[in-house]
Amino acid sequence: MERIPEPELMLSEEQARAYATADFSAPHQMFVDLFRKHFGPHLTGTVLDLGCGPADISVRFAKAYPQCIIHGLDGSPAMLKYGIKRVAAEGLSQRIKLILGKIPEFSLPSHYYHAVIVNSLLHHLPEPLILWETIKKTARKGAPVLVMDLIRPQDQREAREIVEKYAAGEPDILKRDFYHSLLAAFRPEEVREQLKRAALEHFQIEIVSDRHFIVYGHL
Ligand SMILES: C[S@@+](CC[C@H](N)C(=O)[O-])C[C@H]1O[C@@H](n2cnc3c(N)ncnc32)[C@H](O)[C@@H]1O
Repeated sequence: MERIPEPELMLSEEQARAYATADFSAPHQMFVDLFRKHFGPHLTGTVLDLGCGPADISVRFAKAYPQCIIHGLDGSPAMLKYGIKRVAAEGLSQRIKLILGKIPEFSLPSHYYHAVIVNSLLHHLPEPLILWETIKKTARKGAPVLVMDLIRPQDQREAREIVEKYAAGEPDILKRDFYHSLLAAFRPEEVREQLKRAALEHFQIEIVSDRHFIVYGHL
């Protein structure tokens, strides 16, 4: 099945509310645990969370790495509104700064970040190379990088099955977005090609669930 891109930013209030209130604890905790597995339990400095959405991963990461400051960037004001509320409710406003901005237009500091983390942004991008180029531009030399995203299923039937397996009880808008995200996602072999084009061949790709892959490595 060919990739069917979906709208890049998650701009609608209804969409942002459904996403912010859904339970992503299993994949999001897995993301933080995988970072710890590959890069260890100690990290200090400033971490960039690209496409941070309602900041659930920023919050989990800040708790797991108490010496870190997190900068979360997202192009959707609706998503960031939920993120700002969440960060305040967690008492983390001193350590997590959320920034409204869209890559690649938004100007982020060069070679500044001690780590870059990205969950479920790649499949939103019409041009995936933008993600890899942004990581190369913003991360310090040697910084750990972890990207997790969905794997595009073989066909639409398999995509529907995954939605029913993991989101059966969720609102229709979330199920619809999840389905479109699966169709817009990349296959690991396509990501391998992207990494080659971005001169990041040394990054590893690993399939970590029936619907997720990760890319990880030091810049
Ligand atoms: C599926 S959500 C993932 C949110 C968060 N990373 C998480 O795991 O919960 C994807 C987010 O990426 C944002 N996004 C999409 N394209 C973007 C871009 N070019 N620059 C910044 N944010 C973008 C969307 O607005 C949305 O909030």
